[in-house]
Amino acid sequence: MGISFEKNNVQATATFPDIVPVQVTPELELVIEESPPLEGEVAISGAKNAVLVTIVSLLLTSGKSILRNVPYSQDVIHMAQLMQELGALVDFDVERRLLSVDTSMVQKCVVSAAIMKKMRASVLVAGPLLARFGNVEMALPGGDLIGARPIDFHIKNFEKMGASFFFHDEIITGSCHRLKPTRLVLEYPSVGATENLMMAAALLEGKTTIINAALEPEVTDLINVLRQMGAKITVEFPATIVIEGSASLKPVDYTIMGDRLEAGTLLLAAAMTKGSIVIPNASPSILDVFLLKLSEMGHQVEYGANDQGIMLHATSTPRAVSFRTAPYPGFPSDLQAPMIAALCVSSGISNIQETVYENRLLPHVRELQKMGGQIQIKGDRAWVTGVEALYGTQVIASDIRASAALVLAGLVSKGTTIMTGLHHWQRGYDALEKKLVNLGARISLREV
Ligand code: EPU
Repeated sequence: MGISFEKNNVQATATFPDIVPVQVTPELELVIEESPPLEGEVAISGAKNAVLVTIVSLLLTSGKSILRNVPYSQDVIHMAQLMQELGALVDFDVERRLLSVDTSMVQKCVVSAAIMKKMRASVLVAGPLLARFGNVEMALPGGDLIGARPIDFHIKNFEKMGASFFFHDEIITGSCHRLKPTRLVLEYPSVGATENLMMAAALLEGKTTIINAALEPEVTDLINVLRQMGAKITVEFPATIVIEGSASLKPVDYTIMGDRLEAGTLLLAAAMTKGSIVIPNASPSILDVFLLKLSEMGHQVEYGANDQGIMLHATSTPRAVSFRTAPYPGFPSDLQAPMIAALCVSSGISNIQETVYENRLLPHVRELQKMGGQIQIKGDRAWVTGVEALYGTQVIASDIRASAALVLAGLVSKGTTIMTGLHHWQRGYDALEKKLVNLGARISLREV
């Protein structure tokens, strides 16, 4: 099935046979019943956090690019709308998960507040537009309410490259005569700032260096895309990205990496239900610390050859483990909420510290507590005391990863869990509920 993005008439309402409609209506809720051990083989989709930046990076080129393994999720639809608003021609072959984007007609540098507010990744439009056209006008980006999430690292470093910004009524206007390559230092390895600056630098002749860069696998995926476009990029010790850009970059045909966060969530679903699964297309090497913690819990985790494939065989007596979230290769903040759900039903006390976001514990902990989870929070730390059982009830998902935590908890709760706030789930995952159902989970969608 194809979705055509015709000018000013984007069909974000298209549905995909058998699964949750991507168009969200407030009347839908997810119903999760206590499920048997999940068993079988499951493939992960393309990574949300890689595909969004890759779509935007196509603004650096003029012509038609093809992206493969594109997840059919609401954020992808939003990003396609953003591109279309700028004048790109976009077509999504949903069945083949193939997105084609023609940027030849892009002239505009203004993104509407409506689309900017849909997701955090919209801020990534700044680098490509400044580099290609010398201008950008956008509202502050939206996204999950998991912390303040300022964009000061982006702005400060674009200023170092020669751009000036003007803020008025929540609208940011950026302009430059011509960005210049230079040496940039990030005070924190921000994923978005690294990606934004790297994209801008890719279209500049000369050498730009980003010190203390984020090196998340999704950043590496973007490096691969930019290299295919024609930029020369190397990663040097310690955490430095060196970009030798080019005045013109060419369109690409690129396959998006698999979603390590979806892989982590599926592994936890099997672990919690005391099941056994294989994810043949997941790379263990980009989930090292997370997989280490699964092993410490007592689960048997095996890796396939050539970094392809992860197998988990759950222990029937999972143990508590402690961890702190950190930039890659540390424990990913995006798996903290699902892991807390798993620790609610593990034996002992776990100590978790969230260091990436200042408000990323409360949204799911509050709901897990309603289900019987024994969790105390103080500042950036949570202590989870494992319990014998959780209990299904009405819960509200307030961000993407919170929604994953609540679905996982529902799989091992006595009775029925009803989750609202479904649009968060649909923003981040490509029919993950269907993948879980295929493994034996008892999940359904219900109209209210
Ligand atoms: N930060 C600043 N100033 C900045 C930029 C970031 O203070 O200018 C702070 C943030 O407030 C946050 C921390 O730095 O506390 C990390 O932010 P980062 O910039 O690294 O994150 P991001 O680029 O906004 C991406 C992912 C997030 C993921 C983080 C960390 C996308 C679209 N989003 O966000 O994914 O948590 O990196 O790995 O790539 C998710 O998928 O659920 C999600 C939130």
